[in-house]
Amino acid sequence: MRVFVTGVTGQVGTEIVAELNRRAQQRLRGPALDIIAPEESVLDIADRDAVLAAIGTVEPDVVIHPAAWTAVDACEADPDRAYRVNCLGTRFVAEAARLVGAHVCYLSTDYVFDGTSPRPYLEWDDPNPLSVYGRSKLGGERELDPGHTIVRTAWVNGRTGANMVKTVLALAEPGRTLRFVDDQLGARPRRPTLLPGWSTSRSAGMPASSMSPTRARRPGTDSPASSFASRASIRDW
Ligand SMILES: NC(=O)c1ccc[n+]([C@@H]2O[C@H](COP(=O)([O-])OP(=O)(O)OC[C@H]3O[C@@H](n4cnc5c(N)ncnc54)[C@H](OP(=O)(O)O)[C@@H]3O)[C@@H](O)[C@H]2O)c1
Repeated sequence: MRVFVTGVTGQVGTEIVAELNRRAQQRLRGPALDIIAPEESVLDIADRDAVLAAIGTVEPDVVIHPAAWTAVDACEADPDRAYRVNCLGTRFVAEAARLVGAHVCYLSTDYVFDGTSPRPYLEWDDPNPLSVYGRSKLGGERELDPGHTIVRTAWVNGRTGANMVKTVLALAEPGRTLRFVDDQLGARPRRPTLLPGWSTSRSAGMPASSMSPTRARRPGTDSPASSFASRASIRDW
């Protein structure tokens, strides 16, 4: 199976390529894997001709598409770039995949919702993005064909790139009080949810409790809810 991956220098893309390579080398399960993973410097997804040429030449079976402009606050300042990369870029990826009959798996975000639900979101809840970034990611979803895969994830903390865990680790020092905006609730998974190779708080050598400076137990569930990420954060955490 030939797999084409976008955004391979990002948090998610890096881990996807590593996991695919691990499976390809170990032939863990399924068919033999052929992985094509161009960096942004090689393939700008906002360049339609380049995307059509790259995917058309490779003729993958699957396109995994995490590439996006994820700088949430910067998207507000430059909506043209946000829509160009996140909507049009995804349009071009979907168009190229359609021409070769490839399945697209698109990484999306909880920012497609407005955050007012009193309960955890379901796939069928109506989106209502409040930010340019959220609207641009929802626009990207709408560029896909029926039957393609959309993964709406949140609070990605990979080994590469910037994320909240790394920020906390950088700021943490004995006796220091860390302050966070607490306007967002999320369920901290007990184990990695996207990829088996992702480090958890434990495997990163950090006690699980230190991941969330403030924690509350969500009523009616067993899962701890943490409140360390903010919609005002500078990236899509
Ligand atoms: N991080 C989160 O907490 C989070 C939460 C929910 C959803 N998501 C979604 O998950 C996906 C992956 O997130 P992430 O954290 O891995 O993002 P990331 O670390 O910011 O990586 C984004 C990747 O996209 C690439 N990229 C940006 N513009 C591009 C362009 N015009 N052409 C080609 N590649 C381009 C970047 O390349 P350069 O590094 O070279 O710019 C980078 O490799 C995104 O779609 C995001 O919307 C992320």
